[in-house]
Amino acid sequence: MNKPISVATEAKEGSMTLSSQGLANAWYTEESLWKRERDHVVATTWAGLGFSCDIPNVGDTTPVSFMGLPLLMLRDEGGNIRVFHNVCSHRGMQLVVEPGNKGLMLRCPYHRWGYDLGGQLKATPNIGGMGVHEVPGFDCLDHGLKEVRCEESMGIVFINLSGDAPALVQHLQPMLDRWQALAGPEFDQRLTADCETGRLELTVDSNYKLAIENYCEAYHLPFIHPDLNTYSPLSDHYNLIVEPLASGQGTRTYDLTRGNQAPLPAFPDWSQAQMKTGEYLSLYPNVLLGIQADHFFAIILLPEAANKTRERLQLMYAGEAALGEQYAERRQNLLEAWSIVFAEDVSVVEGMQRGRASPGFSGGVFSPVLDIPTQHFHNWFSQRLPDQ
Ligand code: FES
Ligand SMILES: [Fe+2]
Repeated sequence: MNKPISVATEAKEGSMTLSSQGLANAWYTEESLWKRERDHVVATTWAGLGFSCDIPNVGDTTPVSFMGLPLLMLRDEGGNIRVFHNVCSHRGMQLVVEPGNKGLMLRCPYHRWGYDLGGQLKATPNIGGMGVHEVPGFDCLDHGLKEVRCEESMGIVFINLSGDAPALVQHLQPMLDRWQALAGPEFDQRLTADCETGRLELTVDSNYKLAIENYCEAYHLPFIHPDLNTYSPLSDHYNLIVEPLASGQGTRTYDLTRGNQAPLPAFPDWSQAQMKTGEYLSLYPNVLLGIQADHFFAIILLPEAANKTRERLQLMYAGEAALGEQYAERRQNLLEAWSIVFAEDVSVVEGMQRGRASPGFSGGVFSPVLDIPTQHFHNWFSQRLPDQ
């Protein structure tokens, strides 16, 4: 297949051409392209896998399917999050099937081989026959779990499957620079996740890229989010490009006190002149982020199939104080307000997915003004594909 690229490389308003095409349908519909996409586009950068608060305690373990790869995420004895390929070294059984606390030893459900939380093989019951647990020439050190590089930022666990991307903080720096200027130099350290009540999950019948694309433009706001558009209208939005890793949009009129409720504690260094600023970035390849003066959210898009994506939302706040009981109703209202917005987007990402079954569509065109962030994502994707 030819490299199905969008030809524009400039993201500045007015500099794109309407003749630019988006990615070919096959990148949204063909399971056969997944491996190529995973290995060249996704594996070589940092992708979101889960949230730190999925596994708060030592021994907490959760399986995650990521683009066909069975992975597991756990918290080790030192309190660090680790990610491993979720496969037993013996006969390749999926090691962890359900989330939960496994104590200090992961036991394979098949023949009960045991691994510690650092992935080392520690027990091989009956490997030499009944009651014989060791055999000459077999060294457990050679048969541990295969680890996947992971790091945390903003309450999100990121993985780098290739193992050779720059450090996560270095990778995220252009985005952190922007938001540190807005929310204060330590905003990312202050983020406190509402692990108990600030979560949401939904599954959409769509390729994960369409969720990235839909999130990074505000063009659809008046038609798909009519209520949001009343207090944060399209006319007050601006495009955002954070080279080379993200694109999206921002608003100057997000209303913190909507509904006459007292706002939550804001980031202490947030500029007073920008209290109504909200910014929304699609962090490539699979994380959606939103920042406002008094809250933050992340959505991880877990691609389950070419046409199916699990979306996981986590709300976060500017410090522990915001988790106080006096703010419980406000937090609940926020979750409900965002739930409505994200539910409104489901029909369009699923509709775009259905459209990609049509030979009458081959990448479409871009608005030279309002689709700039979407086109930036297409360029990012295309540039990561190797030449045929
Ligand atoms: S496959 Fe895991 S112990 Fe046999
Ligand atoms: Fe939307």
